[in-house]
Amino acid sequence: MKALILSGGHGTRLRPLTYSQQKQLIPVANKPVLFYAIEDVIEVGIREIGIIVGPNANMVREAVLREEWDAEIEFIHQGEPRGLAHAILVARDFLGDEDFVMYLGDNILREGIVGHKEHFEKGNYDASILLQEVPNPSQFGVVELSEDGKTIKRLVEKPKNPPSNLALVGIYFFKPVIHEAVRHIKPSWRNELEITDAIQWLIDHGYRVGWTKVTGWWKDTGKPEDLLDANRLILDDIETDIRIHTNARIHGRVVIGEGSEIDESTVIKGPVVIGRNVRIRNSYIGPYTSIGDNVVIENTEIEDSIILQDSEIRNAGRIVESLIGRGVKIINGTSHPLGRKLVVGDNSRIIL
Ligand code: DAU
Repeated sequence: MKALILSGGHGTRLRPLTYSQQKQLIPVANKPVLFYAIEDVIEVGIREIGIIVGPNANMVREAVLREEWDAEIEFIHQGEPRGLAHAILVARDFLGDEDFVMYLGDNILREGIVGHKEHFEKGNYDASILLQEVPNPSQFGVVELSEDGKTIKRLVEKPKNPPSNLALVGIYFFKPVIHEAVRHIKPSWRNELEITDAIQWLIDHGYRVGWTKVTGWWKDTGKPEDLLDANRLILDDIETDIRIHTNARIHGRVVIGEGSEIDESTVIKGPVVIGRNVRIRNSYIGPYTSIGDNVVIENTEIEDSIILQDSEIRNAGRIVESLIGRGVKIINGTSHPLGRKLVVGDNSRIIL
């Protein structure tokens, strides 16, 4: 089996972070979201991975190739994001005539895909999808099951009136017949080749489409709130790993990377992940916070937040539920005229 991981698209719902960064590379618990997908497919023994890249192709390639992976990774250019089924079209040569799993690079699944792959293979399905009940089905692809609840009758993409609360998780298993399906469908009202239409084509032509339910948590990290949620969920599972000597007061599970300096008047309450070469002085770092490499924090309280690398936060009061990009400066200065002095990128959000 091969894997096709999608890391294209514009990530408009994550602006301004995605003006300068591909959305799947935004870290959660200091690891790019995309890497969770790569790890999941390697865990099930897949050794040939194709990564779909779009506008920031080089950025994705460089980030992925900086790590060592127990798999061969090929990058496949999609250009403009013309839909999930379009990604399969452009990956036709890479996929050949093998079964494959398609994994959306912005999805994180706690339980991995081992059980789901087994179900697909044992059931000898032509396709198998993952489902989870959600409170807001109109933001996802949704399925309608048959009366006996055993088979899938219909799939609809982001329906105004959802036929159920069963959302499609962004992980799909396919036999090569899917190539015929994607060749037959037409672009949707949003001008994308929808994977839901391709799967519907399989059903309408008598192919067997199976499904499994996701039992642990699943996150589509499309929006800032989702990234903070995913950060909480991942941090819930971390184990203490402190690579430096510090006299800071540390409670709970905390990870601290090499080269970081944290003074004795700082209090850290886990779960917290702190990267390498971070300097923290006289501050409080509260639960569910991830701090990237080379960040400086002084005289500030931070809780339930993601701070990306190279940022500087001094005398900033109390920061909660925040997502702060790379190289950001948040400083409470004392020079006149006093008042808030802001240099803020397009589409930023500041709640004072
Ligand atoms: O996360 C689950 C949902 O993912 C499903 O419930 C929906 O049925 C499915 O259509 C998809 O919806 P999204 O609105 O979340 O899809 P999005 O456009 O955000 O794309 C998902 C990922 O795939 C994202 O990481 C970007 C990448 N992508 C997307 C498109 C359309 C590509 O690489 N190429 C593309 O052409």
